Amino acid sequence: MKTDPNAYYAGGLGVELYDLFTGGGLLSGDVEFYLESARRFGGPILELGTGTGRVLIPLAREGHEVVGLDLSRPMLNLAAAKLREHPELTNRVRLVEGDMTRFSLEQRFALALVPARSFQHVVTPEGQRMALSCIRQHLIPGGHLILDLFDPNFELFFGDINEVSPREARHPGSGHVVRRTVVARHADAFRQTVHEALRFEELDTGGNVLACEETSWSLRWNTRQETAYLLELTGYEVVDQYSDFNRSPPDYGREQLWVARAR
Ligand SMILES: C[S@@+](CC[C@H](N)C(=O)[O-])C[C@H]1O[C@@H](n2cnc3c(N)ncnc32)[C@H](O)[C@@H]1O
Repeated sequence: MKTDPNAYYAGGLGVELYDLFTGGGLLSGDVEFYLESARRFGGPILELGTGTGRVLIPLAREGHEVVGLDLSRPMLNLAAAKLREHPELTNRVRLVEGDMTRFSLEQRFALALVPARSFQHVVTPEGQRMALSCIRQHLIPGGHLILDLFDPNFELFFGDINEVSPREARHPGSGHVVRRTVVARHADAFRQTVHEALRFEELDTGGNVLACEETSWSLRWNTRQETAYLLELTGYEVVDQYSDFNRSPPDYGREQLWVARAR
């Protein structure tokens, strides 16, 4: 199946409602984790796949100089709109439209972050290797990388648990209930990719559907040892690894949260 791994980020309700549905579940506490890491490792900071600035803006608010790179203009537009509300941050934030597998910035960074599984939208092993090498070239000697992936849950991809309950939230602008449903999932065991079709609906107080859109994305899963080898191959030494943002030890089917240092 040939699909665009990033169709989701091309615009529409998925982008508009992105922040409402990101940051819970296995990602709980991630922003605080990145803030603590930034206090520990310092800046300047490079965030790859910065999206709507969900992580970038809190970092800038703590006084860090941050560059956010993303492939999606609609996601960057949302980050830029948020930054217009905080003019005091503009002199320490730069948003760059670009591809994490091939980018070139004049600057070098003390810390690079790839939060919320953005790295997994790079769906080929070659692309993933290129991204880590390119990030490595943008780190100062001894600089750090924090990479967050999901650890593959094979029961979810190939077992019986196919339905995921719809999630609902309240739209901060209209006050309407908005619902996000994973309507289909296809896992490709050979390519190590999972493709999801998602539906977004906006409902009025009577439960009538006012707007409905479907979109999709694909992510590539890496086994834990594969990620460890990939980091080693591209010039990093693993410092810490966790299965969540409370620093729990590595575990099956949870997060693969890596802290690595440029060798
Ligand atoms: C799950 S969102 C994460 C956004 C943000 N970092 C956060 O934590 O909320 C993934 C982001 O990665 C971006 N992305 C996907 N592939 C990319 C690539 N090759 N280079 C740069 N950004 C990419 C998408 O456009 C999207 O904004």
